[in-house]
Amino acid sequence: APTTSTTDDGYDLVVVANRLPVDHTVQPDGTTTWRRAPGGLVTAIAPLMEADEGAWVGWAGAADVEHEPFDASGIRCVPVTLSAGEVERYYEGFSNDTLWPLYHDVIAPPKYHRAWWDTYQEVNERFARAAADVAAPGGVVWVQDYQLQLVPAILRRLRPDLRIGFFNHIPFPPVELFAQLPWRSQVLEGLLGADVVGFQRTADAANFLRAVRRLTARTTRRHHVVVPDADGGTREVRAGAFPISIDASSFDALARTPEVQARAREIRHELGDPEVIMLGVDRLDYTKGIRHRIKAFGELVEDGTVDVSSVTLVQVASPSRENVGAYMQLREEVEGLVGRINGEVADFGHTAVHYMHHSYPAEEMAALCCAADVMLVTSLRDGMNLVAKEYVAARSDESGVLVLSEFTGAADELARGALLCNPHDIDGLKATMMRAASMPRREMRTRMRRLRKQVLENDVALWSRTFLDVVRGTSTHADTSLEE
Ligand code: G6P
Repeated sequence: APTTSTTDDGYDLVVVANRLPVDHTVQPDGTTTWRRAPGGLVTAIAPLMEADEGAWVGWAGAADVEHEPFDASGIRCVPVTLSAGEVERYYEGFSNDTLWPLYHDVIAPPKYHRAWWDTYQEVNERFARAAADVAAPGGVVWVQDYQLQLVPAILRRLRPDLRIGFFNHIPFPPVELFAQLPWRSQVLEGLLGADVVGFQRTADAANFLRAVRRLTARTTRRHHVVVPDADGGTREVRAGAFPISIDASSFDALARTPEVQARAREIRHELGDPEVIMLGVDRLDYTKGIRHRIKAFGELVEDGTVDVSSVTLVQVASPSRENVGAYMQLREEVEGLVGRINGEVADFGHTAVHYMHHSYPAEEMAALCCAADVMLVTSLRDGMNLVAKEYVAARSDESGVLVLSEFTGAADELARGALLCNPHDIDGLKATMMRAASMPRREMRTRMRRLRKQVLENDVALWSRTFLDVVRGTSTHADTSLEE
């Protein structure tokens, strides 16, 4: 039975995320349309919203544009407007130049600017008010990710009747790093406005609970934090691990279509029918270990371990956060490295590294996954990594090898089927890549079967149901490994 209503009272389920699940596109004739946006979060929640007719509060992705609420692909969209200055200070600044590097092990140095923090607070307040305006009495509001960590507490102040869940899609850092943040206690208090604070891994939830114990006056009991409520009593905030996934059966079905299969053969042919195709697919982000992967491949070619006429690396890097300095610098480094390797080793008709700075539709991604013998996921730190799961879902032929960094959330679930690697250890990475390239068929099949069972049985529908059941209090299921 539907669990939400769309009466004048508001929506029983409201998702609040930095981005709306649709992109605004202007056609050549000047008319505008909304198209389903790519990306992990959208893939994760859109099916649920379509089924339940919930509302989604988010930013349309351009500065200074105001839109009325609208319906798109079965979802009620409630746009939040950001000015150009707010995009700079809240989105590019505090979210992606302070929190993003801090939460990813300070791979790039986080910047701490008071003006960015002020804007982060103002924008979080705006998102919270928009959600408060559309949520039904006693409804559930599900707040997503690091851009909106203050929303739970603001929302609770505005609407104490709501059940509030927060899910952090990225890692939560160890308290030794989190403690750098000048506004660390405000961020923790913001999150503690929720009834449930969800993380990708048990280790992230444990980091959060340690930060709460160390940096606030709150006490914790196993995976609960005790906080004062509005009537002078106390309430409990639950922290737990809810590893996100993909719509696995849809991706599996897409990859099996004759069109995608034909395109996979075509890609192989266009690459010169090499014996082994290695693939990397990432947003162009310094957390993904793209340089480490290309460096390892370049050395394998240069030291003669692999021959570019038989082994090819395809790297798809989708443009991301292009106004942030660390991303501009990364792009230069990656493109310089690719150019250097190709310049040294390429030959007429053979290129060592095929590098594409584009994003592609799901069909092309599925075809690339089907064409690739080895998928390289070498993140230095990654909340989950859904590309790893997409590769597995696409391999209904039960072949192909997933090389997976230990520093991804996915490694917690996929360790028994993937070849794990430490991307900082270039020699180790090279050895793992070679082991993947020459893995015997039997071992490949055993491993891929394990991976497929895990991914197909734990899809995103199960993830969202599990999380929402805990928020609604109809289930207490969550990772219990924090209880000891
Ligand atoms: C990560 C984050 C998301 C974010 C996405 C794309 O997956 O966890 O919150 O939406 O990257 O980044 P962007 O800055 O383009 O929204």
